[in-house]
Amino acid sequence: MERRALITGITGQDGSYLAEFLLASGYEVHGIVRRSSTEASERIDHIADQLVLHQADLLDQLSLVRVLEETRPTEIYNLAAQSFVATSWEQPLLTGEVTALGVTRMLEAIRLVDPSIRFYQASSSEMFGRVQEEPQTERTAFWPRSPYGVAKTYGHWITVNYRESFNLFACSGILFNHESPRRGKEFVTRKVTDAAARIKLGKQKTLKLGNLEALRDWGFAGDYVKAMWLMLQQDEPQDYVVGTGIKHSVRDLVLLAFDRVGLDPTEYIEIDPALLRPAEVSTLCGDSSKARAQLGWTPSVNFEQMIAMMVDADLERVQREIVIEQIRAAAPDWIFHLAALSVPRECGRDTPTEQATAVNIDGTARVLDLAAKLGGNTRVLFISSSHVYAPLTEKSPPLSEDAPLAPRSAYGKTKLEAESLVTAAGSKGLDTITIRAFQHTGPRQSTQMMLPEWADQFASSSTDPIKAYNCDTWIDLTDVRDVVRAYRLLAERGTPGETYNVGSGTCRRTGDILKILQDMAGPNREIEELKPGVHYDPVANIDRLVRTTGWQPDFSLEQTVADTWAYFKGLHEHTSQ
Ligand code: NAP
Ligand code: GDD
Repeated sequence: MERRALITGITGQDGSYLAEFLLASGYEVHGIVRRSSTEASERIDHIADQLVLHQADLLDQLSLVRVLEETRPTEIYNLAAQSFVATSWEQPLLTGEVTALGVTRMLEAIRLVDPSIRFYQASSSEMFGRVQEEPQTERTAFWPRSPYGVAKTYGHWITVNYRESFNLFACSGILFNHESPRRGKEFVTRKVTDAAARIKLGKQKTLKLGNLEALRDWGFAGDYVKAMWLMLQQDEPQDYVVGTGIKHSVRDLVLLAFDRVGLDPTEYIEIDPALLRPAEVSTLCGDSSKARAQLGWTPSVNFEQMIAMMVDADLERVQREIVIEQIRAAAPDWIFHLAALSVPRECGRDTPTEQATAVNIDGTARVLDLAAKLGGNTRVLFISSSHVYAPLTEKSPPLSEDAPLAPRSAYGKTKLEAESLVTAAGSKGLDTITIRAFQHTGPRQSTQMMLPEWADQFASSSTDPIKAYNCDTWIDLTDVRDVVRAYRLLAERGTPGETYNVGSGTCRRTGDILKILQDMAGPNREIEELKPGVHYDPVANIDRLVRTTGWQPDFSLEQTVADTWAYFKGLHEHTSQ
């Protein structure tokens, strides 16, 4: 049977983790979003193309019926709520409408459209309020202490009631606090981890808090969404408590987060009486024995690990914001996006490593995002590679930019995917140019690359044979100084959205390049070829580059080899002194 889930509150913390989890489990995932004058979908942007989103609101009965009729889900996860306890005293009626009556509206929609839909209700440990026993179980009496807690208690009982009255498969998960780097900044964990990061990086001076003695059972949201799903996979609908069974104070949380950034919190914390609640929930701690026994659920991330994860994510984000501020202040005309992993050790051979995907693809997405935020006057020059072309099996004329794209290497695959991001950003109005750089070299290239690797061996005091990977590969090798001049000319004169090859346009044999070096370095060293055989790398057709910019190389290959040799010779003479 096709598995189709509908999530209300998909733009929230839990909604985003649940959507990821259900997609990975093979579900078709639909979500309800409210109309807003600004976009608030950052938590699901990374999976937006895999989701189907519908405009509806828990306040609007007919909008729910319409979405259910359109999507015909097999499972509904009702996560939408006015979920911030402090706000529930400011807006008690809205909280009641959304967090309490919203549940009934959804249950009514299910009854009307398809009573076989399985329903999950996001109930809360706030229902226990002034706790009647410790730890709290499914049988502990409720005593809610806020309009939010009261609304959730209604949502809980109406779920139980519709199960008993109409035989719906309706479950209520009584979840204790769960957090993550995606937690809203108004909640205390994220407020503290964000502040620790901002204070550490000089963006904030103090942190105002309310009750430091409150005790909570804090877990990781990524673990808790699995429990929601497990509840709907059982034979019978039931209610379950989900928590870690361990409680910590807000004070513990502060100490841990500030310790992570190496600061003493007593220098920064201020107690603000305005943040104390009219009625506080002093302590919460869940006994999840039933969920552990019946659902096989266990948390995988403990409190210390979760706070470390949140602080680290906030540090990274704040650092990124600082860099963006600095770049924005500099208002660059051009961004040359050169950063990438390129060697197989880091990229993988055929399939890109996680690291290569993170840097070469996701990193490019971040650069494009940054450029878009700069306001549209910045041109992005994305440096791609000749590795995006299909490999050659025989000698071929120089390849134009329209030649078939079918990378074999993991590196080439990441570059091609990044190119498609650049094209997409270009079609949304960003000024972009894609540059396919062919092999180029010079003294500052890594000794993992051919010419510096050879020059380094010749310059060393060793008398071992020079190890050369292969002497019969035909390549297009340019001097890096010419290549960067081409980049600069394209920045000034390139056509927006266009792709350009940058290479010498001539074909050279690796063995001949080695010979030029050998003649300069002295002929005495033997050459050992590690992988003999004939290979052909692509050669660039540079007509488009030349037509657009008038570029011609200034440096002969002989000059490039001579300069590289002089550099490594100098380096070895210097280190042996
Ligand atoms: P959250 O981040 O605050 O997300 C709340 C979601 O509800 C958002 O997507 C919000 O949409 C949506 N929403 C609010 N009003 C709505 C309305 N009138 N119609 C449709 N959607 C509406 O909350 P969370 O931490 O993910 O929690 C998910 C659920 O679990 C909530 O019901 C919460 O009360 C409950 N819960 C949470 C915890 C916890 O520790 N996180 C523990 C127990 C229970 P916008 O993006 O448009 O605002
Ligand atoms: N938000 C906040 N801000 N809380 C503070 C602060 C502060 O500056 N200072 C102290 N606290 C205390 C609160 O008084 C509360 O006792 C505790 O920190 C946790 O507050 P929140 O993080 O706002 O969460 P919550 O426990 O009130 O509610 C969360 O958990 C519930 C489950 O128990 C929310 O996610 C609810 O939606 C959820 O149902």
